Amino acid sequence: MDKIRIRGGRPLSGDIFIHGAKNATLPLMAAGLLTDERLILSNVPLLADIETMATLLAQHGIATERLGNEGRVLSLGGAITNTEAPYDIVRKMRASILVLGPLLARCREARVSLPGGCAIGARPVDLHLKGLEQMGAEIRLEGGYVNAAVPQGLRGADIVFPFVSVGATENLLMAASLAEGRSTLSNAAREPEITDLALCLMAMGARIDGVGSDQLLVEGVAQLHGARHDIVPDRIETGTYACAAAIAGGSVMLRGARLEHIAALATALGEAGVEVVEDKGGLAVRRLNGLHGTDVQTAPYPGFPTDMQAQFMSLMCVAEGAAMITETIFENRFMHAPELNRMGARINVHGASAIVRGVTSLQGAPVMATDLRASVSLVLAGLAARGETVVNRVYHLDRGYEAVERQLSACGADIERTSD
Ligand code: UD1
Repeated sequence: MDKIRIRGGRPLSGDIFIHGAKNATLPLMAAGLLTDERLILSNVPLLADIETMATLLAQHGIATERLGNEGRVLSLGGAITNTEAPYDIVRKMRASILVLGPLLARCREARVSLPGGCAIGARPVDLHLKGLEQMGAEIRLEGGYVNAAVPQGLRGADIVFPFVSVGATENLLMAASLAEGRSTLSNAAREPEITDLALCLMAMGARIDGVGSDQLLVEGVAQLHGARHDIVPDRIETGTYACAAAIAGGSVMLRGARLEHIAALATALGEAGVEVVEDKGGLAVRRLNGLHGTDVQTAPYPGFPTDMQAQFMSLMCVAEGAAMITETIFENRFMHAPELNRMGARINVHGASAIVRGVTSLQGAPVMATDLRASVSLVLAGLAARGETVVNRVYHLDRGYEAVERQLSACGADIERTSD
């Protein structure tokens, strides 16, 4: 099994290329189920989760071809031949639930394994199911599967989400695009990945208003057609490398990154003593002097992203003073805290909040984490730690970060991937 070995204490300097967003690509691939024609996606990241989604789509009859330089262009196409998403694939990746809306819209039936809980919390899919029921679907949960049918076809509905859900908004936006009549999605998620999905659906012929707002109005159409779409840059990869420059010191240029997508993080970094400015088609990130403890609370977009909470916590471990970090989206998303404490951090978790008291330095240690963002937060801690840090279970990292060790070593970090 691969490991990442880091010898900390070297400042970063250089360019880092920001890839297309994983969390935009996965729903966009599911949108390939909405038409028999070709959907061409460019700026696709080379990640394990993309392969998992391609395997799932293949099982439904949709072939994914990698084109272009390095295979960063995906061509999806084919007729749906099977409406079952099996447990063996869904359990590997929760985003698999995103095939439910498109399959129901196209085939009037679907059988999709329930994703179940995961390392960061229970993560139910009740909002996805309730929304589809409002659109006329009959849903039974049996043997760990969602069995859904809508013999007369989906009908438009007024759906008010009781709280913001990225996945439910995506699933229902896709379903509503092919439903009969008008749908409104209120209290919808506004993440840039949703805007990206809406733009692609519109290029495929969908009629959507209110894109970028928390109220999406969808006028269903009888069919969608093929399209080409360029995937939005990954704001979480952007934020992660911004935190890398902040914790290691030095300055980096994040090529292709967009400031408007990381506004809440950039504000927090500014308070902490890190400059983030737009520069020549990207973002220049520079640690000014010392780091200062800065409180953050996660919230749906445009708030501070839960997917940046672990990385920001690593940064606060070596800041002067204390920081309170509050997680409001997932109930169990502090598993990096005890690992950071093993590296000499002073973090106390109380319910949904963690108090981080800054220390002058961390010490390298063997560490591991059970989710993607927690794993990368340990890599960041390793950049600042004295001595050697070995991050185990690198397959979590590979789900969301393309060549993290190459990107960081090109900027001067002492980091390498090793295998047993
Ligand atoms: C997506 C992202 C994930 C990110 C999260 C929050 C992808 C592939 N994943 O996940 O990286 O951390 O948004 O920004 O894009 N909930 C319910 N019932 C539901 C749906 C959600 O109770 O039917 C709860 C969840 O348990 C969680 C909260 O709502 O507490 C937000 O979840 P949601 O926004 O749906 O996250 P995902 O779409 O799963």
